[in-house]
Amino acid sequence: MQADIRALARDIPFFSPDDRLGEVAERFLGTDLQPALSAPVVDADGVVLGTISRYQLNDIYLKKFGRDLYGARPVSDFMTTDCLRVEVGVPVAEAAQYITTHMRFPLSEDFIVCENGRYLGVGAVLSLLAAMEQQMSRGAVELSQAYRTLKSSQAQLVQSEKMASLGQMVAGVAHEINTPLGYVRNNVELMQEFSAQLRELLTLNNALVQALLDPDGTDVDVARHLSAIEDLRVLVDPELLFSDMQTLFGDTSFGLAQIGELVLGLKDFSRLDQSHTDNVSLNDCVNNALLIARNAIKSKVEIIRQLGDIPKIACAPSQINQVLLNLVTNAAQSIKGSGKLAIKTWADTGNVYVSVQDTGKGIAPEHLKKIFDPFFTTKPVGEGTGLGLSISWQIIQQHGGRIRVASEVGRGTRFVIVLPLKMPVAAVSAPAKDTAMEAH
Ligand SMILES: Nc1ncnc2c1ncn2[C@@H]1O[C@H](COP(=O)(O)OP(=O)(O)OP(=O)(O)O)[C@@H](O)[C@H]1O
Ligand SMILES: [Mg+2]
Repeated sequence: MQADIRALARDIPFFSPDDRLGEVAERFLGTDLQPALSAPVVDADGVVLGTISRYQLNDIYLKKFGRDLYGARPVSDFMTTDCLRVEVGVPVAEAAQYITTHMRFPLSEDFIVCENGRYLGVGAVLSLLAAMEQQMSRGAVELSQAYRTLKSSQAQLVQSEKMASLGQMVAGVAHEINTPLGYVRNNVELMQEFSAQLRELLTLNNALVQALLDPDGTDVDVARHLSAIEDLRVLVDPELLFSDMQTLFGDTSFGLAQIGELVLGLKDFSRLDQSHTDNVSLNDCVNNALLIARNAIKSKVEIIRQLGDIPKIACAPSQINQVLLNLVTNAAQSIKGSGKLAIKTWADTGNVYVSVQDTGKGIAPEHLKKIFDPFFTTKPVGEGTGLGLSISWQIIQQHGGRIRVASEVGRGTRFVIVLPLKMPVAAVSAPAKDTAMEAH
């Protein structure tokens, strides 16, 4: 609930302009009145003409013969006409601003609360300031609540982007799995056909053996079986059949291994436990991201891997995978026609580095400052959300690292991720955005 000026208005008795000062002093300074710094002087219509303060009365009465000299004169001769007045509908903040700019020091008067200029009550300046302070602290609470809501909606955004990239990835991987799955299925069908032929041959051979073993069997029977077998062997050469089946088995197990590799990559990649940290080699993350992105990278893009001998670091592998996948996808998307995508890893005594460099179209200098901003994208609607780099930046920052970028229009772009060998205990809040151009 908003504090209201009306709630601050105390019902202090008012005086008429003709009331004598002596009488006013007696009543106002007397004990029967609620303590107030000033008393209103109000005309017959209730309109506030001014105030007389306790401070003024004391001042007059302390003077030698003050009471005798001034006591019989009307209070209107002494009142302050430019007193502090606040209309009842004015918001507390506005009233507080008015009072603090108009009040006199030392504080010797209260403010008069009016309704359309008519007297309503007297408000203490200190109560108004206290109400204001309360309102401000309520505002601060609301602000911090709004901040929390914003943060959580940002987290949701990050989550939905993650799900979207996961969806894209799954579609890519499904496509990847489909190729080996297709030929594994073909091979199995062929093998079914081959084994049916083999069974037929076997059945004929069995019949021949039975005929040979039958004591009542005749040469005619045996000859009949033999010719049936010969007829079939013209169509089905067992030697060739076995060698074909051998090849089919080899191809099939290769296809199954490929499917297995993809499934394993996907499992590693999409581990949903984001906070999960492991000691991992960034080389594994690079290989994983390239495996998953294979579908997105056109065949005309030559991939150059220069993976150095780097130590493992403690990180959340699924998050690092996500960053690398985004960098690799961005690089692949920037290349129109043929080009190169080089991924390099190396380490020094303090950090590990991953560089993702492409020979794509590059980033215009005026865009370079914005690429880490959420929703900044130069891709058509529906193709890019513009969240990839902003999320990547957050992930790397949470790992206490940095992302550097250098780009030249028409030549290409290079992103370098720097991750500390030892992740700081607390999440690092140091600025990690570094869009300075560097030679590449
Ligand atoms: N390697 C790159 N080459 C050229 N431009 C790039 C490269 N990487 C990023 N950009 C530019 O930065 C913008 C922002 O990239 P970001 O990954 O944040 O979003 P996006 O790729 O557009 O969308 P999303 O990642 O959601 O698919 C891109 O739209 C593009 O203009
Ligand atoms: Mg992207």
